[in-house]
Amino acid sequence: MNTLKARLHSIEYVASGIHSFEFRPLEGSAWPRFSAGAHIDIHFADELSRSYSLINPEGECHRYVVAINRDEHGKGGSRYLHDTLRVGTCLSISEPRNTFPLNESANHSVFIAGGIGITPLWSMIQRLTQLGSPWTLHYAARERVNAAFVEQLEMLQQPDQSECHLYFDQEPSGRYMDLRSVVGSCPTGAHIYCCGPVRMLEAFEQVVTELHIAQDRVHREYFAVPATPSKMAGHTDQAFNVLLAKSGRSVAVDKDTTILEALLDEGVDVPYSCMSGICGACMTNVLKGEPDHRDLVLTEEEKDSGKVMLICCSRSKSSEIELDL
Ligand code: FES
Repeated sequence: MNTLKARLHSIEYVASGIHSFEFRPLEGSAWPRFSAGAHIDIHFADELSRSYSLINPEGECHRYVVAINRDEHGKGGSRYLHDTLRVGTCLSISEPRNTFPLNESANHSVFIAGGIGITPLWSMIQRLTQLGSPWTLHYAARERVNAAFVEQLEMLQQPDQSECHLYFDQEPSGRYMDLRSVVGSCPTGAHIYCCGPVRMLEAFEQVVTELHIAQDRVHREYFAVPATPSKMAGHTDQAFNVLLAKSGRSVAVDKDTTILEALLDEGVDVPYSCMSGICGACMTNVLKGEPDHRDLVLTEEEKDSGKVMLICCSRSKSSEIELDL
């Protein structure tokens, strides 16, 4: 995927601890189009990168805007952006990638957000509002001051068409979101989207399973990895070989190494970002062999097809797997 040269054009206060960062092209005046739910990777000087959802309206190509929560306990990307990056700074970003697409033909869309998980959903809500399609948002945050886009969201509400339910559990008269009743009361056939802390997503997975919600109507995006994603039942780590179709090279992957790590060690240039199976940057076509999927991005259908895999976390069930690299 191409890298784009960007200049930080502006920083704005969005909510307590959350700023938006607007990037504009350093060369030319337009970037590739993106669809609601897409994200970009921001590359830092230390060669690490982090993924952030785009929050500006679909169709805007003259700028990309992300909103970032300063996470005191994160890996440092958000602190760098908040504390160090200054307007005018140039840096590299990826083209937008969408692993959390909006189904625009749904009869109704229900959004469940926790904290900064509102960002991809805010982009989707703007899109549905533009299309005149109905939506319902359930948005939980500690307090109103910590919740991004609340005023704009409330202004987009329309009777019998779109509504916003807010849950501020640390306010004196606040309330908790009851996920079971939220999911249980979704209109028949509605598509349901969830994004927020891992705890919320795990509870969401449990509720949709218990309520037998069809998987093709359930969409989620993880910002962080659950405690032990790759040690799921049925997964064993064994060594295997990766055959690179374009060069004909064979790379050994031992049981303690990921495909991505093995390829990088061998000097193979492959795109990646989170290294945790949640961003989709390392998605690679599989030509032969049987992937052992361990990511949180691919749909069940994509996993069953065996044609694509995320090489930062997924492995191979066969002794050799051939990749389109
Ligand atoms: S690098 Fe993010 S999913 Fe593989």
